[in-house]
Amino acid sequence: MSQIESNKQLESRRILLIIGGGIAAYRSLDLIRRMRDRGWTVKTILTRSAVEFVTPLSVAALSENTVHLELLSLTEESKMGHIELARWAEAIVVAPATANLMARVAVGMADDLATTVLLATNRPILMAPSMNLEMWGNSATRHNHALLQGRGMEFVGPDSGDLACGEYGAGRLAEVPEIIAAIDRILHRHLTASSLAHKRFLITAGATREAIDPVRYISNHSSGKQGYALALALRNAGAEVILVSGITTLPAPAGIKTLAVTSAREMLSACLEQLPVDGAICTAAVADWRVAEAAPQKIKKIRDQQTLTLELVQNPDILATLSHHPSRPDLVIGFAAESESLIANAKIKLAAKGCDWIIANDIAANGAVFGSDYNQVAIITAAGVESLPQMTKLEVANHITQRIISHFNPAGGVK
Ligand code: C5P
Repeated sequence: MSQIESNKQLESRRILLIIGGGIAAYRSLDLIRRMRDRGWTVKTILTRSAVEFVTPLSVAALSENTVHLELLSLTEESKMGHIELARWAEAIVVAPATANLMARVAVGMADDLATTVLLATNRPILMAPSMNLEMWGNSATRHNHALLQGRGMEFVGPDSGDLACGEYGAGRLAEVPEIIAAIDRILHRHLTASSLAHKRFLITAGATREAIDPVRYISNHSSGKQGYALALALRNAGAEVILVSGITTLPAPAGIKTLAVTSAREMLSACLEQLPVDGAICTAAVADWRVAEAAPQKIKKIRDQQTLTLELVQNPDILATLSHHPSRPDLVIGFAAESESLIANAKIKLAAKGCDWIIANDIAANGAVFGSDYNQVAIITAAGVESLPQMTKLEVANHITQRIISHFNPAGGVK
């Protein structure tokens, strides 16, 4: 799809805005105005507490549409039920998303129209949080934020600045142009989604665990976050995704077939069972070595024995196996964590593994990559190197997904 065509299609998009009950609710009026400027049709839901901050009348006037207030309003339900409202929207924006609203969505409540629609929808959801900085930093909110991101919801902000409570810090609703830009990105992705609609992707993620005995094991620090983010980004782009996951603490993402494995050999056989696929992305941190023979019983400490020798044998290389398989996926992507000569080593790895692209990250420059929500990568292909700035792992995933869409639709002009 050309840029002009997709811009044209952006003109008459259908956005459902859910306004939460926070002091920043007044800024949703400007947001509505900017959305209308772009020619988008805007429907709104005001939570019970939002009505304390903005009047339904001003929201109705600016959106030029009816405002939806109560779940059990029979007249409203007969005109447009909550399921229909959830289906009508192409994207749902929650602004401001209060701590309370995020918490209610995180536990899957459906006790008002806003939460019911958010539970009943399969459309992309963008949350723009706004709250006091202590509330944003509270581990309960951190947990809910991670949980919602893990389910595929996207976030814009909060920004840092002066807060309504008189304090300074993170908690300000993102600026309206920032929110509009985030909606734009979601809509563009939505437009290009059909490009991956009939494609199957296999993703490995997380750490493998190799038993030494029934109690001990060999493993590594991989969190699985980058692989899970890629699974979500590809699913959001319409692909069928199979996630073969090693050890991680992340929840299984909704709408994605997730196969839990422990060892490298289990991961390999789970992957081979899923062939053929159109694309394979190996993000898993696979233990290179396993103990030749795991002890059937816990290895005992013997008093005079100062050393213990474990014989290690090499694990199969899943990425190389998929790259050389008779049913080789059309696109095979590997990851490389390097601490020196990033690009040179990644190019060597590209050839050694036989894959098409290597996503390289410099773990020396970016020591916090394990477990962090941020990543800085370079995409290395036969055609060249694209170095990306530091961004969140979800943004990295979205960027790689756009490259994948271009790979499968070379004439599509999607960038
Ligand atoms: O050789 P190295 O571990 O640095 O290569 C990293 C890439 O290879 C990653 O994409 C990783 O998922 C993949 N890999 C694999 N099986 C292995 C080792 C690494 O799939 N046994």
